[in-house]
Amino acid sequence: MSAPAAVILAAGKSTRMKSELPKVLHPILGRPMIEYVLDAARTAGCEKIVVIVGHKAEEVKAALTQHSDVEFALQAEQKGTGHAVMMSAESLADHDGPVLVLAGDTPLLKGSTLSRLLDVQQQKQAACVVGTAITEANEGLGRIVRDAEGNFLRIVEQKDATPEEAAIQEINTGCFAFDGRQLFNALEQVKPDNNQAEYYLTDCAEILRKAGETVVAEAAFDIQEAMGVNTQEQLAEIAEILQRESAE
Ligand code: UD1
Ligand code: MG
Repeated sequence: MSAPAAVILAAGKSTRMKSELPKVLHPILGRPMIEYVLDAARTAGCEKIVVIVGHKAEEVKAALTQHSDVEFALQAEQKGTGHAVMMSAESLADHDGPVLVLAGDTPLLKGSTLSRLLDVQQQKQAACVVGTAITEANEGLGRIVRDAEGNFLRIVEQKDATPEEAAIQEINTGCFAFDGRQLFNALEQVKPDNNQAEYYLTDCAEILRKAGETVVAEAAFDIQEAMGVNTQEQLAEIAEILQRESAE
């Protein structure tokens, strides 16, 4: 079995940053924010990292050339998170092991939390482990739907949710640990049949569960750790948190 690999999504355009610089290159304490995600993936044991680039792809690649364990895959058109991960299929064709899927705009991720996702995936021989967090501030995030026994059923995006589902406070952080082979099998079955007409990565979890595979939703994250940067204000907030952490 191969050592874990990571796929980091960084193809999306971020209008809310109101900046020409690609979002994942915005510096935090002097380093592009995506480098914090690379660090966390490495700490969790990932030996190969595929960064999905799209919006301002050349600029993102140029800024990360010194990372010898990073490969790039181009998503020319942004058709959703599932479509983005699909772009890494070629880079991971020979990979036979776990795959972490992460976003490039979540610099507070901890290697130890990602290790926990990988441990659960191995221990349970799960096809998919969804990293979740509990929060009242669930606006805009995917909700985790469970059955009466607490077993994972599916992830529902806010735009597709019923009012009852929208009230759920367990959310998808966007961090997953998959069995690599199962991930790409499931991605082939994802269809853009939702209110955003996108290929959702999140659909893989339900596809695998329905195929009889083990899918686990693990509330491993503190909501702050999974916080993504969408605005300059959030960037400043995260810089302050990292500054405090490095001072300690
Ligand atoms: C996604 C999840 C949602 C989760 C949230 C956590 C899906 C369908 N939904 O929602 O359940 O709660 O993240 O933050 O996955 N990206 C690409 N290419 C694309 C689309 C997105 O590279 O075609 C990248 C973005 O740049 C970003 C990441 O993927 O880094 C997440 O995309 P975003 O559009 O923010 O997804 P959400 O709708 O927030
Ligand atoms: Mg988002």
